[in-house]
Amino acid sequence: MSTTTSSSSSSSPIPGDDTTTSTTENGKLTSSLDMLEKWIEHDDHSYHLNFLNPAQSNKIRVALVEWYRANRRKLPWRGDAGPYDGSTAGYAASASSSNGKGKKRKDEGKDIRSFFASSASSKKKTKTVSSSKSSKSSSDKQKNKKTVEVNQQLQNQEAREVTAYGIWVSEIMLQQTRVEAVIPYWLKWMNSFPTVQDLANATDEEVNSHWAGLGFYRRARYLHQGAKTVVNDENGVVPNTVEELMKVEGIGRYTASAVASIAYGVEVPVVDGNVCRVLSRLTGIANHIKAPVLKDDLGWALAKKIIDVKPIDKQTKESLGTPGEVNQALMELGATYCAPAGSGVDDNDPLKDFYVSTKLGIAIGNAAHSDDPSVRSRVESLVAASTERSKQCKLCDSGGVATAYYNMLERMTSDLSTNSKTKPETIYAISGHASLPIPPPKKSKREEVIAVAVISAQIDKEQCWLMMKRPSEGLLAGQWEFPSTCVWNSSEKAKKEKKGKDKKKAGSKPAAVQVPIIDPDVRSDALDSLLSDIFQASDKHSTDDINKRVQLKNEPIVHIFSHVSHTMWVEHKHVDEEVHNEIWRLNDREVGWLTESMMATVGITSGVRKVLSAVQK
Ligand code: ADE
Repeated sequence: MSTTTSSSSSSSPIPGDDTTTSTTENGKLTSSLDMLEKWIEHDDHSYHLNFLNPAQSNKIRVALVEWYRANRRKLPWRGDAGPYDGSTAGYAASASSSNGKGKKRKDEGKDIRSFFASSASSKKKTKTVSSSKSSKSSSDKQKNKKTVEVNQQLQNQEAREVTAYGIWVSEIMLQQTRVEAVIPYWLKWMNSFPTVQDLANATDEEVNSHWAGLGFYRRARYLHQGAKTVVNDENGVVPNTVEELMKVEGIGRYTASAVASIAYGVEVPVVDGNVCRVLSRLTGIANHIKAPVLKDDLGWALAKKIIDVKPIDKQTKESLGTPGEVNQALMELGATYCAPAGSGVDDNDPLKDFYVSTKLGIAIGNAAHSDDPSVRSRVESLVAASTERSKQCKLCDSGGVATAYYNMLERMTSDLSTNSKTKPETIYAISGHASLPIPPPKKSKREEVIAVAVISAQIDKEQCWLMMKRPSEGLLAGQWEFPSTCVWNSSEKAKKEKKGKDKKKAGSKPAAVQVPIIDPDVRSDALDSLLSDIFQASDKHSTDDINKRVQLKNEPIVHIFSHVSHTMWVEHKHVDEEVHNEIWRLNDREVGWLTESMMATVGITSGVRKVLSAVQK
């Protein structure tokens, strides 16, 4: 990584711009300004596709494949033996701290493998620092012990065969979950269900317990159902075309394309959020990575340009890699050197010379700091006009160019004032890279206030807990939890407000949701009613004591999922009663008394674990 040396971007040709022939300083500035003006004024998505013309895509593919072969993460589903390469999180965090802010990244100058190793050790260091501040709880110690054990197991793993089923499982697990978290789950899963047939034969409970802790439980249900379909309809053979794969439950275009290209070598692109980021930076797309036009539509056409590359001159097919290698390289690059905090000027980044983002940053920096003030004002009037143009590029957000432009300017101004060691041109390049893609529109999380009843008793003298299985659809589908009821949620509030006359201005930020403290009597009444229904549905248990619950603490337990936050007020009651090991139903939900060992077999979610450990403290 060379943030303190001159960025090589300034001397490399601008991709897709064959007019860059001048070598004089003035000539370079003129062509850089010309390129900037073309970006601001473009009004058709073909502008972006042109950066991936066959010659340019060929170079990009060769660079990607070379990088991937030398540096790819060692992972069990890729047929590697342990130990495995894990985190990319530290990379992004440390990269951002160097970007023009004067601090050197710890991993500066290292390749990706040593980064993975160092991120693990730097995590350990952070833990030591924090543990000296606050004494570690025994559950933290237990967790660490478990982590050490898991890591030892991972060291000793033998290489496994790469199979379409193994790739399918890994891709489903990797959706919304980091690689390092997935590795032990994938290994345990493949040990218990080594084939599609084994998975199809497993019970719902077995599947749930193997998924517990990974979140987004619908994925597990679909995977299970999908395995049954493959066994019943396809003789247990995972289909080898995108079209056929997409007929299987839980397999959408992304997973189908990943399985087809990685396991069967089918020539199709794979586009996820990380790939969208790489594409935005490679071709100057001023949009956010979840924009449907990019993620679901034209992003695929752009990535296909790299997949469709044919050998030129004496190039061997081998040097262009397989579609699986190219797709994984793009995804992996987007998770590492081209993560949100990637600089775009790192010497280890294989696409460093190809990013339009860094070139735009340099052009904007040069225009803003030109001796001739009319240059900046001309650029800014073009930017202003770009937001008013009616005919827009389909790939860019309507105000995307202006957003990216002003974010670049703001970032470089701030970095120039705090970092005198880095060359201005490098700061410009990094600012350009950091500002593409643009940030997504802000969306506030849904908030729910939940009253939770933790009722404990005994089965054969062992402590047990009254639990309910969640419905088979929706959040945490099919998972066991303590009886609970939602007493307030922000979407109801939002609906009421929508009916009112104070409509929000388009594009204005959503106001932060204030979570109210619901009257304790209201919470208790709601639980009384739920528990009364539960025990009426079972003829074996009395409800006498159940209403004498005590509130656990004076504050709620907050558990945050990706898109919803649960504020849980917990009430506890231990009944001195021997209860029965049985399951009964309340409407469409199962209810029963579960011991901790029973919980371990069905698997409980991290939210439930949080409540349980609070009660046990
Ligand atoms: N992220 C999700 N799937 C991936 C894959 N197959 N390779 C690299 N990163 C990924």
